[in-house]
Order: sequence, then C-alpha cells, then structure tokens
Amino acid sequence: MKILLIFTLSLISGPVGCVDVIGYSGGSIILISNLYWGSANSNYICKVENRECTDLIRLNTGKNDFQVERFMLYKNTAGTLTAFIRKLKPQDAGMYRMGVGTQRYTDVTLKVVNDSCCAGPKIMNAYRGQNTSIICNYPAVYERNYKYIQKLDNDSVIKAILDPGSKSQNSRFSISDDSSAKVLSVNISDVREADDGVYLCGVYNTVDSVDYFSYFTEIQLHVRGETFIHGVLNMYEYLL
Ligand SMILES: *[C@@H]1O[C@H](CO)[C@@H](O)[C@H](O)[C@H]1NC(C)=O
Ligand SMILES: *[C@@H]1O[C@H](CO)[C@@H](O)[C@H](O)[C@H]1NC(C)=O
Ligand SMILES: *[C@@H]1O[C@H](CO)[C@@H](O)[C@H](O)[C@H]1NC(C)=O
Ligand SMILES: *[C@@H]1O[C@H](CO)[C@@H](O)[C@H](O)[C@H]1NC(C)=O
Repeated sequence: MKILLIFTLSLISGPVGCVDVIGYSGGSIILISNLYWGSANSNYICKVENRECTDLIRLNTGKNDFQVERFMLYKNTAGTLTAFIRKLKPQDAGMYRMGVGTQRYTDVTLKVVNDSCCAGPKIMNAYRGQNTSIICNYPAVYERNYKYIQKLDNDSVIKAILDPGSKSQNSRFSISDDSSAKVLSVNISDVREADDGVYLCGVYNTVDSVDYFSYFTEIQLHVRGETFIHGVLNMYEYLL
C-alpha cells in the first residue's frame, strides 16, 4: 500500500528528473520547455539554491516577453515557455526551474563550460557595400553537429536564422563549415546598415522534455558608412 501511494504521488508531481544542458562561458543559451505559455497563469523562471527557488523573472501580466538584465522569458512562436540567458558566467551554473502556474514546471541543470575556442564576445567592423566574413570558432565536440547562426534584433528578440542547410540562392549570406579548423564562417556580400548587430553561433540539442540552443560565440558586427579611414585601409591592403 505504501509503495502504491508513493507511486501515485510521483505521478501527480509531474516533472520527472532533471535535464542537463551545456552552455559556454561568454555564450548564450535558449531553453525551450514543453510547457505551454500560460495566458491566465504566472510564467516564471527561478534558480534553485539551498532548496529555495529564487525568482529571476515572474510574469503575471498579459505580456508575452520580459527581460531582466541577461535573462529573458518569452512565449516562442510555437507558444511554449522559453528562457534566454545571455553572456553566461561560471556562476550561472546550477539548477533552474521554468514553470507555468503552480503545478507545471521543468527543472534544468545548466553546466557552464570554459572552452578556449570561444572566450568572450568578438567585435568586427565592416563598411557599407563591402564584403565581409563573420568567423565563429567552435568547440571540437561540435565538429559533426549542425550549426546555427542567429541575429539578435534590438539586443533581445531573435530575428533571422541563417541555416547552413538551406543555401538560398539570392541571399547575400553564405555559410561554410571547416570542420578540420573548427571554424564556421558566414560571408556577407554588399554589407548594409541593417546587418549591424549581434550574431550568435551555436548548436541545437534535445534532452528529454527540453530543446535548447547553446551559442558558444557572440559577434558584434559594427557597420559604418564610407569614410576616409576606409580609403586608407584599402590603400594599405594594396600595399600588402
Ligand atoms: C572558467 O573561467 C573563469 C574565468 O576565466 C574562472 O573563474 C572559472 O573558474 C573557470 N571555470 C572552470 C570550470 O574552469
Ligand atoms: C529597441 O528597444 C527599445 C527599448 O526596449 C525601444 O525603445 C526601441 O523602440 C526599440 N527599437 C526598435 C527598432 O525596435
Ligand atoms: C567566403 O569568402 C572567402 C574569401 O573572403 C572565400 O575563400 C570563401 O570560399 C567564401 N565562402 C563561401 C561559403 O562563399
Ligand atoms: C562580393 O561578393 C559578391 C557575391 O559573392 C561578388 O559577386 C563580388 O564580386 C564581391 N565583391 C568584392 C569586392 O569582392
């Protein structure tokens, strides 16, 4: 009887176990739960420490996204509860709980790895009209993984996905993956003002009930107009 009772309780409590995800120091992670965003309930993410869960974000309003510093919680296009953590630090490691209302939640344990490939954000400059390349070094473990490049819009909402699989013909973007050098590069031709912004390079994984993007490299591309310096740089290139 006792055994049966315990079994029943574990059925009611819902989430089973805890999901391990891997993030990179200086990178970002997007955790996609399988919980539907609650329009009438609170949506939250909290960090479990010393048996307490400290709220990072808790939304009781009708809003579909909210950002607190490096943390963002939002309803993704599939309608599920999604968390985005930027500029990961070693101290971000630990257990997070993403939940909707009082009953439904998913626990995720985040490991933050240091990898010499990808320390810190990179800053690149390009001039309007130029061709340029965004270079992402990646951890050796992802040699065979499918990789994604995404651009942040206005520092928060993810805009475009440049998919290495779909080589669209008329795009100004082309992607290549050199697995021996562990380098993913994106060539951008005829650079425009709109290309200015933050690009993230990463991989997509599924562990149990959680899908996640782990971005190991962040690149800030600054696009400038034609300047005198541009001419000087060009001359310098010819001299070389
Ligand atoms: C990763 O690097 C940071 C800063 O460089 C350091 O504080 C931390 O202890 C390192 N963590 C591991 C697991 O090596
Ligand atoms: C970017 O975000 C800021 C603050 O949230 C907002 O005021 C601004 O209008 C946004 N800009 C664009 C282009 O969406
Ligand atoms: C990107 O540009 C470099 C030269 O800048 C070229 O060698 C490389 O083949 C290009 N890659 C793609 C995928 O177009
Ligand atoms: C820029 O890239 C485009 C498309 O790949 C190519 O046609 C053009 O010649 C390149 N321009 C320069 C200056 O390299």
